[in-house]
Parts: sequence; structure tokens; C-alpha cells
Amino acid sequence: MSAAHRPWRTDPHPPAWIGATQPRGGVLGHLAELHHDPLGLFTRCAREYGDLVRLRLGPTRMVLVSHPALVEDVLVTRHHHFHKNLNRRLGSALGNGLLVSEGSYWLRQRRMMQPAFHRQRIDSLAETMVSVTKRALDGWHANPVRDLYLDMTDVSLQIVARTLFGIDVSPDLQRIRQSSQVMTDHLRSRLFSLAMLLPDNVPTPGNLRYAAAIRDLDRLVYRLIAERRAIGHDRQNDLLSTLLQDRDADGQGLTDRQVRDEVFTMMSAGYDTTALAVTWAWVLLSQYPEAEARMRAEIDAVLGNAPPSAADLPRLPYVGSVVAETLRLYPSAWAIAREAVCDTQIAGEPVAKKSTVLVSPWVLHRDPRFFEQPAAFRPERWADALAQRLPRFAYMPFGGGPRICLGSTFAQLEIVLLVTLLAQRFRVELTDPTHPVEPIPVLTLQPSRPVQVAVSAR
Ligand code: HEM
Repeated sequence: MSAAHRPWRTDPHPPAWIGATQPRGGVLGHLAELHHDPLGLFTRCAREYGDLVRLRLGPTRMVLVSHPALVEDVLVTRHHHFHKNLNRRLGSALGNGLLVSEGSYWLRQRRMMQPAFHRQRIDSLAETMVSVTKRALDGWHANPVRDLYLDMTDVSLQIVARTLFGIDVSPDLQRIRQSSQVMTDHLRSRLFSLAMLLPDNVPTPGNLRYAAAIRDLDRLVYRLIAERRAIGHDRQNDLLSTLLQDRDADGQGLTDRQVRDEVFTMMSAGYDTTALAVTWAWVLLSQYPEAEARMRAEIDAVLGNAPPSAADLPRLPYVGSVVAETLRLYPSAWAIAREAVCDTQIAGEPVAKKSTVLVSPWVLHRDPRFFEQPAAFRPERWADALAQRLPRFAYMPFGGGPRICLGSTFAQLEIVLLVTLLAQRFRVELTDPTHPVEPIPVLTLQPSRPVQVAVSAR
């Protein structure tokens, strides 16, 4: 093995390789490609230049890390050296909520909220997830041509709001959707562009629209907090009550602003990711009719028309594999970013303070070293405990290390329930199968166009 392809560690197999050359960039580094086609650029970099590739966005140094052992170095072994500053810079909407907070504040908040996400608590939410979904599906007969992503977004938003905060957001869906769209457009225009280096409070037209969208959603969230404080928060046993009842050692509770940040974070982190997974699952199933037939056969045999419950999940292994395979090919969180807070190293390679480190589940999940026929949708690959045989971090739709997704159990239950309920009630066909739906990476992996489907009763 030449120095050019230096292997790093031998466990897990095959070893990581660090290429001797790095992709050339222009005056602004790799700005143009980063902005226009980050999925293509990252994939090409990993396959052609190795598992640790240096890129530049204007003055910002970036390091793309694409081997499970190196990912572990960043997210676990040296996690103290890598913070979430970049996420904070991308959008101020989340305030100091759990997704972006750091240090002892983050740890305290995470410990406080963790019990709400324990498996037993989550399983008890299945009934609400099912009833919200059934109510939405009831309306589909009247209008059988649907925008699937939009529909799934409405359902998952209502599920998060009802299960975690005990609130019904159905009257506000339109408004939430509009504001979220403004925020997504804003993030999309800034992602991997020099504008990302500008703070949100510089009054550009985009920043002003973004601020107005946040204010609009804030009004809603503060109203919900005020209503709950007024009726007494100890009456309900949900995450909002936990947030409102929490007291520190001096008996101080969270301020409205702190509660707002956590509510906003959970709502943002918890609905689009799951809506996308259900949407991509049906896009894939429509392209792989054998997988769809096998999934339907399992659901029919196990449940017939009976609604699914949390206890049914182990009896629906193929549906579970469809979900795992969807999250492999279309990981909603397609990239995870960190900023080095000191001069440090990854796999023995120096990484300067303030460098952005990127880990892309999109790239890792399509790595032919770990997945046979990586581009193919093959749910059956998850049989025989593939998840246990893979090296840690070869498959990581929910991230890893201390900052691993808090809602992964919630999400997996919800996605299986939604896919199952849809399959029980309807046949689902893309109205224009010849026109592919491509993934567009914003913070999450969005569909390039409306996912229009025609549904018919089974
Ligand atoms: C398919 C669905 C989902 C996917 C793919 C997903 C993915 C992720 C990933 C990759 C991270 C780590 C980000 C990082 O390390 O920078 C994360 C964090 C997080 N997720 Fe999820 N997520 C999903 C659903 C949910 C749901 C349903 C909730 C809440 C109801 C949620 C709440 C969170 C929170 C609070 C964090 C921050 C945890 C922390 O930093 O301590 N997620 N998610």
C-alpha cells in the first residue's frame, strides 16, 4: 500500500483510506459545486479522493469524513472537539433548543426530556398516531389525487403536536406550512453559499422574510405555552408539562423563551424528517413493485384490516426493512455538521480550529464497501441481522454519539404505522412515473417536485 492510499486502522474492515491528493478548488474554493450539487460533490470526493477530503467554502475550511471509523472519531471519541456552531449559524429559529445547544445546558435539557422518549412512553402514543392518520386518510376518498409529501407533512405535524404537546394544530396547518416553506427556501438559498457566513440579523430581504416567518410561528408557540400555563401544566403527562414543571437547583423554572426554543426544536426536528421518510418510502415502493407486493402480503397476513399498534411492529419485519432501506437510500438528515472548537485531528490528520466537519449519511449509506448494490432498493438486505453485522456508523440515519437523535424510537414507530395504514387503505401510484422525483438537499432531503400520487381504495 503506497503512502498515497494510507490505511487508517483495520477495524472495521475494510480500513479507511486517506488520499494523497485533494479536489482542486477555485478562488472561492468549492463554492459553486457545494451550492449546486452537494450530494454529487460529496459522493465523488469520497469515492475518488478518500475518506477524509478537504474542501473550502470561501474562507471556511471543510473536512468531509466518509468512513465509519473516522465518523466514530468525530461523533464519539473526540466529540468534545466538535460543536454544533454551524447549525446555529444556518438559522436562528431554533434559538438555544436541544438540536443546537451545547455543554452543560444541553446535557441538562437532554436529561430532562429523555424520559418522554423512552420506549414505553412512545409505544403508548401509537394509538394517537393511528387516530390522527386515519382521520386524515378518511378525507382522501373525496379527492384521490394527492400531494403525498404535503399530506404526510400535515399528518406528522399533527402527530408531534398532539403527542408531545397535547395540542391540536389542525386549524393552523396552512399557516405553519406557509411559514415553514419560507424558512426552507431561506435555508436552501443560504446552504453552502457565502450568505451562510452572514448572521441572520443583517437586514437582507431574505433575512427579513425569514424573521417574519419565525415571528409568525412564535406567536403560535407562545400562545400555546400561555394556554397551558393558564390551565395548569400538571394536568397532562406530556413533554410540554415536563418543560413547564422543570425546576433547577434554585427552584427556577424555564423561561417562556427557553420553553419556546425546545417546543420549536421538537416541532422542527420531529415532523419533516418523518414525513419525508414516508414519502420516499412510497416513491421507492412505486419503483419496486415486488417489494411493495411483499410488504402488502405481510400486512394483510398479520393485520388484515385491523389498525396497527406498537406491539405489532415485531410482527411486521418486512415493513421495518422497507423503512430501514428507505432511510438508507434517502436519509432525511443527509448531512451532519460540526465545527472544530480547537486544533485537533481526525485519524491522525490535523484539523484546524473553526474547520467545518461534515459527515454525510447519504455518502456512507451508498458505500459499496459496506452495501452490495448500494443504489438498489432491497429491503430484504436487512434480514439476517445486517444491522448487527455492519460496522458501527456504516448506517446512521439517526446520527450517533451523545447527540444521537432523541426521537428515533418515536420516528420509527410513526413511519411504520403510517406506511402500514396507507397500504391497508389504498393503492398508491405516482401520477407521472416517467418524471423522476430527485432528492434536493436542504437541511433535510426534499423532493425536487410535488410527489403527486393517485390513490384508489383497496
Ligand atoms: C426519520 C426521522 C428522523 C431522522 C432521520 C432524524 C435524524 C436525526 C439526526 C441525524 C440527528 C443528529 C444530528 C446531529 O448529530 O447533528 C437528530 C437529532 C435530533 N432529533 Fe431526530 N430524526 C428524526 C426524527 C425525529 C423526531 C420524530 C424527533 C422528535 C419528536 C426528533 C428529535 C431530534 C432531536 C431533539 C435531536 C437533537 C438531539 C441532541 O442534540 O441531543 N427527531 N435527528
